[in-house]
Amino acid sequence: MTAVISSTGLWTPEQSISNEELVEGFNAYVDKWNTENAVAIEAGELEALTYSNAAFIEKASGIKSRFVISKDPILNPDIMAPRIPARSNEDPSILAEIAAHAAKQALEAAGRKAEDVGAVIVACSNLQRGYPAVAVEVQSILGTSGFAFDMNVACSSATFGIETARGLIAGGQAKSVLVVNPEICTAHLNFKDRDAHFIFGDVATAILVEHIDVAPKAHWEIIGSKLITQFSNNIRNNFGFLNHTAPEDDGMQGERGRKGLTDKLFVQNGRSVFKEVVPMVAKLINEECETHGIDPNNLKRMWLHQANLNMNVLIAKKVLGKDVEIEQAPVVLDEYANTSSAGSIIAFHKYSDDFAEGETGLICSFGAGYSAGAIFVKRVA
Ligand code: COA
Repeated sequence: MTAVISSTGLWTPEQSISNEELVEGFNAYVDKWNTENAVAIEAGELEALTYSNAAFIEKASGIKSRFVISKDPILNPDIMAPRIPARSNEDPSILAEIAAHAAKQALEAAGRKAEDVGAVIVACSNLQRGYPAVAVEVQSILGTSGFAFDMNVACSSATFGIETARGLIAGGQAKSVLVVNPEICTAHLNFKDRDAHFIFGDVATAILVEHIDVAPKAHWEIIGSKLITQFSNNIRNNFGFLNHTAPEDDGMQGERGRKGLTDKLFVQNGRSVFKEVVPMVAKLINEECETHGIDPNNLKRMWLHQANLNMNVLIAKKVLGKDVEIEQAPVVLDEYANTSSAGSIIAFHKYSDDFAEGETGLICSFGAGYSAGAIFVKRVA
């Protein structure tokens, strides 16, 4: 094993939206829509929309608040979406900009100069354009050498990115690889959809993966890893370049096609995801522990994907065979909501300072695809 994790970085937007604020905005939209459609609702042609509820959101998901890049338009019943002004091609794109913020932090934490980084991987759920790769733009902003490329494995992009970086290092392509996860999840969220409007937030994280020969003395040895995917339509986003070729399939209207796969924003069958992904991830972790001779109860911490608190509690219980203490599987989704691939990395970044030499932990992502990635790490001080 030649690659280790040297450091991480986290960029958090300044603005946040509490459940109460979000629900107030949503309910104002419901009132407006029901008033505008009163005749059709009265005639039984349309179903009236129903209010959202802050207590439901917290109980069902564990989410209390979310950081966002653009707050006011999301809460405006006439807009119900973030507004991120288009930029000229001469200006840095928003995704590259937030990725660079997180990346600089990771470089600084490891005492690494940008020019010593040989590859940048932008690994995230939603890329803002086809090409040039956002990662190449990040390379240019930071001044890193070598090459850069984008990849997307939805919520598992970061763990798949770490593993890809390991492969590049093992193959001799680079000694230092930056994996960056800029996630503007609010831009793919349908804020008019009561079932999902509370789920996502915005953030950017970065992980510096390096050859042991150049890594700082204090780092995280990667002692085992496993990636899996299994096709499912239960979490889906149909936005893509072929939309342009099918104008008749316009799924951007919010209330139309809310549950359907024609929607070009995020759609999911949350219940099915919950039921199917929990056993899949618990099995993955248990099998990998066995492969590497790790007793799950000896893991000091599991930095799990942050989609749903109840889901994490259940996964941890299935892995450990008992209820977990919050320190064993820390929660950031109360504050950040679901930030897709960044979730487990935020948890790792915020809750890893107390590890002593030799203590082990697990970074574990799971989500759309389905996809799941497990990276077992050991602290080297
Ligand atoms: N406010 C109030 N009530 C709401 C509501 C809201 N915002 N959204 C849904 N409800 C209602 C539903 O209408 C339903 O009412 P009914 O029982 O009268 O039909 C009830 O609450 C339960 O809805 P359901 O969708 O079954 O809730 P849930 O307990 O499954 O929780 C999720 C929903 C999305 C929080 C949960 O399923 C989840 O997180 N699943 C995992 C998703 C995941 O990990 N996705 C990965 C994404 S990358």
